[in-house]
Amino acid sequence: MVRGPKRERTAERMLEIEDLNVWFGSGRDRVDAVKGATFSVAQGQSFGLVGESGSGKSTILRAITGLAPDWSGRISVAGAALNKRRARRFFKTVQMVFQDPYASLHPRHSVDQVLGETLYLHGFRDIDACVSKLLDDVGLGQKFRFRYPHQLSGGQRQRVAIARALAPEPDLLLLDEPTSALDVSVQAEILNLLSDLRAARLLTYVMVSHDLSVVGHMCDRLAVMNGGQIVEIMEVAALRAMKASHPYSQHLLAASV
Ligand SMILES: Nc1ncnc2c1ncn2[C@@H]1O[C@H](COP(=O)(O)OP(=O)(O)O)[C@@H](O)[C@H]1O
Ligand SMILES: [Mg+2]
Repeated sequence: MVRGPKRERTAERMLEIEDLNVWFGSGRDRVDAVKGATFSVAQGQSFGLVGESGSGKSTILRAITGLAPDWSGRISVAGAALNKRRARRFFKTVQMVFQDPYASLHPRHSVDQVLGETLYLHGFRDIDACVSKLLDDVGLGQKFRFRYPHQLSGGQRQRVAIARALAPEPDLLLLDEPTSALDVSVQAEILNLLSDLRAARLLTYVMVSHDLSVVGHMCDRLAVMNGGQIVEIMEVAALRAMKASHPYSQHLLAASV
């Protein structure tokens, strides 16, 4: 991937996925988790992946970030095709936020350590100022800087996980059910934060959710998955108008009201 100023790294198509197959195991134990997925996401867009549990949504994100190593097809980010290995500079372009902020933060690392180490790994110099700015950007502020995960609520932990993902100044954020482990009362706060950050930092999102109202609120387009396959790609306006073409999407929409 090209290193350099942000404007050189942007591409009209931030993400292109073509005929993606992802599998786990081999022989009789093989699970084909994603089958022939094709979609693309323009720079600055927010793209949703919806479908029932086990339909392959997370596996698509994991294949992009290199966490699901057995895949075929084509994945390109900012115009560059990915091969099997992800170099560190890949993570300056692509970052992921996981569902469970309890599992994703090391219990004995303070917020300052989590953010400071990430910045250090990505070659930032003025780490102190960067940590301070990240904390402000995710709405936590300086008083959280030396806290440990057990001293934070679920929503605060997810803000730290978002700050960590933003630290390398990525262009593309992969969000895997970023609010579904949180209390309903804080879900909207985190979703609003993510919307604001996308606008402020001109980010591109791919957001997995089993909640159609979240995708309706957060995304421009979405893919509906069933059994590892994308059955339909639709504009969010069609989702809001309850107008799906594929019977499975119609079923999903009907079940969500
Ligand atoms: N590490 C793994 N090993 C084996 N099977 C897996 C693994 N991860 C996911 N799967 C299987 O792949 C399928 C898709 O899973 P996943 O992408 O997590 O679905 P979703 O995110 O839509 O709930 C499921 O059948 C799941 O059991
Ligand atoms: Mg999942």
